[in-house]
Amino acid sequence: MKTKVAIIGAGPSGLLLGQLLHKYGIDNVILEARTPEYVLGRIRAGVLEQGMVDMLHEAGAAERMDREGHVHEGFTLSFNGREERIDLKELTGGKTVMVYGQTEVTRDLMDARKAAVAVTVYEAENVQLHDFYSDKPRVTFTKDGEECTLECDYIAGCDGFHGVSRKSAPADKIKCFERVYPFGWLGVLSRTRPVAPELIYANHERGFALCSMRNDHLSRYYVQCSLDDKVEDWSDERFWNELKARLPEHVAARLETGPSIEKSIAPLRSFVAEPMQFGRMFLVGDAAHIVPPTGAKGLNLAASDVHTLSTVLRKRYESGDENVLAQYSELALRRIWKAERFSWWMTSLLHKFGDDPFTQRIQLADLDYFTNSEAGRRTIAENYVGLPYEKVH
Ligand code: APR
Ligand code: PHB
Repeated sequence: MKTKVAIIGAGPSGLLLGQLLHKYGIDNVILEARTPEYVLGRIRAGVLEQGMVDMLHEAGAAERMDREGHVHEGFTLSFNGREERIDLKELTGGKTVMVYGQTEVTRDLMDARKAAVAVTVYEAENVQLHDFYSDKPRVTFTKDGEECTLECDYIAGCDGFHGVSRKSAPADKIKCFERVYPFGWLGVLSRTRPVAPELIYANHERGFALCSMRNDHLSRYYVQCSLDDKVEDWSDERFWNELKARLPEHVAARLETGPSIEKSIAPLRSFVAEPMQFGRMFLVGDAAHIVPPTGAKGLNLAASDVHTLSTVLRKRYESGDENVLAQYSELALRRIWKAERFSWWMTSLLHKFGDDPFTQRIQLADLDYFTNSEAGRRTIAENYVGLPYEKVH
């Protein structure tokens, strides 16, 4: 097998990159370790920045999002008995976010890829990357017991945090930065009407809580939990009671509860690998970086990486000049670190870090300062809707 760009991983990063490259006439093959059903079974975030929305349009995978997604013009911060709305639209000169689940984005991109008749090999086992410091990179894998080789010009490692691509980078050429947080998020999906039309992020003395949604009949809620907790420790009843305890009373009073249809615990982590280019291999999305979910930046950062990589690859094939690729890592990392900062800050601001009363007072002072100052609100809004994409030369 031979292609121009071998893409490892059919998550949102790999599928979006594949679709854009296809539109630009750049042949690509995706190798995915799992089945499509498994990939679609992962419940993840659901807030899309305008940049990502625009890219889904460009990829020709936006029709259902335009129909079923919900534009949100603001969200609420709840703390110390107060509720402060961040008016995204007003504070950013008209920018908003789109609430549309990552699962749906993935499904739409899978459908678009099917329609484009582009090759995706699912259940590709033992994927290995070779010779990416030469001009003849290769990816080997096993499919249905048969050993296969994919020759290519470039490899895009879109295989998530646990993938093989980052691990294939030479140890002396990669540097990783990490912060692990001392708590997790317990998430519940339920067929109930969302408690409020916009998202509510709550700082509470019992711990953080978040009210989100997928659509008018599907709610997504989270509470901060201990890393030692198991999903089995959390009956639906315990979850609903804890969520109510952390929300403003009038919100808790109208919370519609029901059986959970998904319940999971996720640890929180900040992680960045530098650089993101190793010869002819590029890291994209979760393969290179992780943010805690507090700022809803994970999926959106993957999209901005894809924007940068697809643009430099397009320029490379149009001009024949390989040097344009060298800017990928620096441009991607510049935006990544700013989103890492925002996600870390939102996490620090809203969660319970032990019982230290000094830390709690500082959090409340921070929230009071930022929400009472127009500059503060604007800073939150501008980061939440997504910072501009870095310009590619
Ligand atoms: N070979 C082939 N595929 C692999 C391998 C491997 N060795 N290891 C992992 N994969 C696949 C996974 O099965 C998964 O489908 O790579 C894909 C990576 O997808 P994601 O983890 O979703 O990562 P990414 O596409 O970068 O998505 C960005 O945004 O909201 C956040 O973390 C969230 O998934 C989200 C991310
Ligand atoms: C979600 O809907 O799953 C969600 C929304 C906002 C976040 C994190 C997760 O910050």
